[in-house]
Amino acid sequence: MIEVEKLSFSYPTGSRPALVDVSFAVRPAELCAVVGGDGAGKSTLAGVVSGTVPHLTGGDVEGSVRVNGRTLADAPLSGLVGEVGLVMQNPFNQISGARFSVREELAFGLENLGVPRDEMAERVDTVMRELGLAKVRDRSPYELSGGQQQLLAIGSVLVMRPGVMVLDEPTSQLDSAGCDLVFAALDTLKEQGITTLLIEHRMERLAREADRVLVLEHGTIVADGTPGEVLADERLEKWGVAPLRYTVAARRAAARQLWPAGKPLPVTLDAAVEGFGGTVESFDGGGPR
Ligand SMILES: Nc1ncnc2c1ncn2[C@@H]1O[C@H](COP(=O)(O)OP(=O)(O)OP(=O)(O)O)[C@@H](O)[C@H]1O
Ligand SMILES: [Mg+2]
Repeated sequence: MIEVEKLSFSYPTGSRPALVDVSFAVRPAELCAVVGGDGAGKSTLAGVVSGTVPHLTGGDVEGSVRVNGRTLADAPLSGLVGEVGLVMQNPFNQISGARFSVREELAFGLENLGVPRDEMAERVDTVMRELGLAKVRDRSPYELSGGQQQLLAIGSVLVMRPGVMVLDEPTSQLDSAGCDLVFAALDTLKEQGITTLLIEHRMERLAREADRVLVLEHGTIVADGTPGEVLADERLEKWGVAPLRYTVAARRAAARQLWPAGKPLPVTLDAAVEGFGGTVESFDGGGPR
């Protein structure tokens, strides 16, 4: 569970606050997505929820952030390990630099926690299998492709089995197959009841997978709802987020009365097919063949 109340934050050098009066909660097993334009405050929010901001950056925080009932401001950063897992925007930053193979890198955090050897091997194997890393298990983390590094960064957090996961654009360097692996892993997290905050720009995936979407603009939450509500909102582009092609097509069709009246605009392919299919049928039924 993540509970954020009236959160405002300014970096020590920032000319204006990066977050302004942000309030929301994410329930256990919920996958909550955060979207917004460049510099909207998404990574800062990920940092605050995972404790790296302000612990590592400095700056002024107002309001409160609670993770599984614990107030982050009172917890030392080391105490948050195990509680919140953060996958950072740049996977390169996440590599420890202290281990020489993918397998050892994945085990690194577990060693620090003193997890028994057998369990460690089992958890590392599971994550390598889930994320398709088994084939590069003996390679140096620095010899991986950007996409593989990204999967490794995700794996090194997954392996810790935190109660809350925060992922900052975890698929930015991945192809569609890599993306499938990550979203399959997110499904598993959900089944395990893990609370997930996901910053992601692949709207098609979010539309299908997220339970909820928050939109940040200039550090403020301007929308909070289901993917269907938020991603079909006509203000989406103004908020700095590109709308889905299904929504765009249906909005154009609706302007010409070619979209069923009163039907919400689609954010998934299935909903688009259903909507357009319905329209075609009603034309067929109404006129001569
Ligand atoms: N370490 C920092 N010190 C000072 N200002 C920062 C720092 N990191 C981010 N900012 C500023 O805070 C604001 C929010 O940045 P943030 O990185 O959270 O945005 P974002 O939504 O993640 O953007 P992007 O889509 O580019 O990743 C921006 O104005 C940015 O310039
Ligand atoms: Mg960012």
